[in-house]
Amino acid sequence: MKTTRRNFLRVTSLGLALPFVPAIPAIHAGESSPEWRFGIIPDTQWKTNMEAPFYGTAIHIIDAINAEMIRQKVDFVLEVGDLVEEAFSEAFQTRAQHNKILNENGIKFYPLRGNHDSNNSISPVRCGIAVAQYRAAFPNLPGISGNSGSSPDLPNAAGMTYSFTHKNGKFLLLDTFPLVDDGSEDGKAYKISDYQSWIDTELSKKDHRFALVFAHKDLLGQNHKDNVFSDDKTNQDSFPETQNAFIASLQRHGVRNFICGHDHMYHRSRIKSPDGKSEVQQIICGSAAHKFYLPEPPFLARETSLVKELNRIGFLIVHVNNDGIRIDYHSTEPFGREKFLPKWEICDSFTDLFGDSLNRTT
Ligand SMILES: [Fe+2]
Repeated sequence: MKTTRRNFLRVTSLGLALPFVPAIPAIHAGESSPEWRFGIIPDTQWKTNMEAPFYGTAIHIIDAINAEMIRQKVDFVLEVGDLVEEAFSEAFQTRAQHNKILNENGIKFYPLRGNHDSNNSISPVRCGIAVAQYRAAFPNLPGISGNSGSSPDLPNAAGMTYSFTHKNGKFLLLDTFPLVDDGSEDGKAYKISDYQSWIDTELSKKDHRFALVFAHKDLLGQNHKDNVFSDDKTNQDSFPETQNAFIASLQRHGVRNFICGHDHMYHRSRIKSPDGKSEVQQIICGSAAHKFYLPEPPFLARETSLVKELNRIGFLIVHVNNDGIRIDYHSTEPFGREKFLPKWEICDSFTDLFGDSLNRTT
């Protein structure tokens, strides 16, 4: 694919390049549909590795996105992993400190680990230490004993893979990186198949009107060919039964969107399971980091690209009311330096109205 600096591609006419909209329009004309919002931040690594003051996390981009989250009055912010470049205490603490403005505005932050949050390539540590450093920076998450929410009943999974509800929504965040020091060099990571029964249980509960499922790695990446099911870069159809069961579960429970990071680009697509029996929309939610990746073949026939944008800094705002959700992708030029003065534009926007299959409110 020929690549320009921005390389903004709409494969269908589902969206238009929209000018930035300062007002926050309701997603539906219904008078009795109060809207609420939440934000989603993609990978926030920065190129300084372990050096102060960044400690490998894009604090200037995080601050700019947080300002926009506050301006748009979101209820909470969620990040899909790779908060930092290298897993070490100062990095996690620095990332967490840049949520102070969110905390002061009553906005909770829900993190999820990525591969960079579970590994330090410069000063390697056992996975138990890396997990403890992460937990110290992001304590009191759902699923931990005494807190609301739920985690799978698996050693060390509490507060790492977790679900929570907020108003009419439910959110499942899946950690697929080493959590248990089993004596191996990297430690033991749980697979999606280890989580499947918990996923089904959580999505079966009648405590939500809609649900979204998040992981750091993708179902199918445009650049990265490892995925949420396997590190095998040579076979994106690895563990087909696991893939079939997972995507079938999402479809059966009315989860229409799987949201992920890892690929440092914005890409919205439809993905079928390897057996072709079920389907979900995947949103790779952009990059808030120093690096961007370009699409590289192979691309599987079971994925249909809808909207793609490369080489821009971005984030999502999800607007919710009683009728459905609207997901807006905001992006700006990256500048690439340590001064960041964004001019946000809405570069993709789509609406999912709740159907009968999502009629879960008790
Ligand atoms: Fe990643």
